[in-house]
Amino acid sequence: MQLTLPGMADMKGARGRRFASGLNPDAADVNASINFDWRLLRHDVAGSKAHARMLARCGIISQEDAERTGEGLDRVCAEIESGELALDPALEDIHMNVEARLIELIGEAGQKLHTARSRNDQVATDMRLYVLTEAAGLIERIDALRRALVDVAERHIDTFIPGYTHLQRAQPVRLAHHLLAYDAMLTRDRGRIDDAMRRTAECPLGAGALAATTFPIDREGVAAELGFSAVTRNSLDAAGDRDFAVELIGAIALCQTHLSRLAEEFVLWSSGEFGFARLGEAYCSGSSIMPQKMNPDLAELVRGKTGRVIGHWVSLMTVLKGLPLAYNKDLQESQEPLYDAVETLAASLRVMAGMVETVEFDTERLRRATEQGHLLATEVADYLADRGLPFREAHGIVGALVRKAIERGVELDALSLADFRAESDRFESDVFDWLDVDRAVDRRDVIGGPSKRRIEAEITRIRSELETP
Ligand code: ARG
Repeated sequence: MQLTLPGMADMKGARGRRFASGLNPDAADVNASINFDWRLLRHDVAGSKAHARMLARCGIISQEDAERTGEGLDRVCAEIESGELALDPALEDIHMNVEARLIELIGEAGQKLHTARSRNDQVATDMRLYVLTEAAGLIERIDALRRALVDVAERHIDTFIPGYTHLQRAQPVRLAHHLLAYDAMLTRDRGRIDDAMRRTAECPLGAGALAATTFPIDREGVAAELGFSAVTRNSLDAAGDRDFAVELIGAIALCQTHLSRLAEEFVLWSSGEFGFARLGEAYCSGSSIMPQKMNPDLAELVRGKTGRVIGHWVSLMTVLKGLPLAYNKDLQESQEPLYDAVETLAASLRVMAGMVETVEFDTERLRRATEQGHLLATEVADYLADRGLPFREAHGIVGALVRKAIERGVELDALSLADFRAESDRFESDVFDWLDVDRAVDRRDVIGGPSKRRIEAEITRIRSELETP
């Protein structure tokens, strides 16, 4: 259904009576933002209601006009959300669509709404409200993923996995420790989003088109009513910057990058080569030709979508970099990157939480992997250092022992005490106690380490953090 505005043809968009003719249709397509800025509907209506109430409070419009405006705006919002009212691209954007329908519904009172306001401070306000709402939603989803990670970590405190550097088996750790590394990343991600919110929570209304307004408005009152914690301090800046969106997209891009790394682990772990994990069927796809296949498509897509989210940050920075003050229409191009970044991360967080909840680990295979590849060589070097040998010398001795073991095709614990003593007379029979995965891991009993005691304490700490509102 197309919105028609009888008797308002000369008011289409913001052209008013300044123009003798309409906009070229190709130009209109490029000019309109309604295809994406409909997402601002609720924020636009909230901002307009607060603005109208403030105008009445300050004696700029009548109480009655403000009330009719408030009711009218609620109705416009309901009509658009129910689909009863179609959005009209000829009206350019969500702001003009809402206002035009309001005027159609309530007449002259609606024509007063734009007093002491411009679309420039209006759109900046709407976008900030959008960022504040969506950022809070992202934080909730990050915490949901963190809960899923902690649940799986708790089930796998006693599962051991090779820890890697250079994707070569390095030292054993608890699987819980590996999973909780992602909790640490996600905790910083939510912190960055929260931080971006603090600077976003300044209300631009009152900045006008660029030079504020001559009307005696109450900026602080509107800001407080809309849930902002302060008002912006410079009208040119308030109407002309989108750094708050850059900050959120930056935090999103980093969070998506962390998800991408977790997704990559799932791809590796679920491969035949690793065989560490089986992904839940609900998060895998089949092949159209190879009946045996179960592919980790969702993990791959979370990884793949990271490129576009990083791209959104670059797009927005590039839009801003050469702009003179204050508002320029280029700023309309800041909206799509923001929406897509928010929506991509929100969807990816949900899918990753589901994948974490449904993944099954092959604990036997993981254990065997920790027992092959001389992962305990460092323990033997530590053993010698513990007995007074300089670590660098110990490192050399154990290197020679590993070489010997490789030549014989065995692990270090299959060498004899005589083999050990041939390299250093500091070795005693208790060296074999050190060649034990559980013991090796539990000796790493420092804050941030993988010992059982530390992991249990971490799980308790993270759980209580997640329970604190
Ligand atoms: N759709 C526009 C945007 O997103 C709204 C502001 C229009 N302002 C203007 N001076 N044309 O930037």
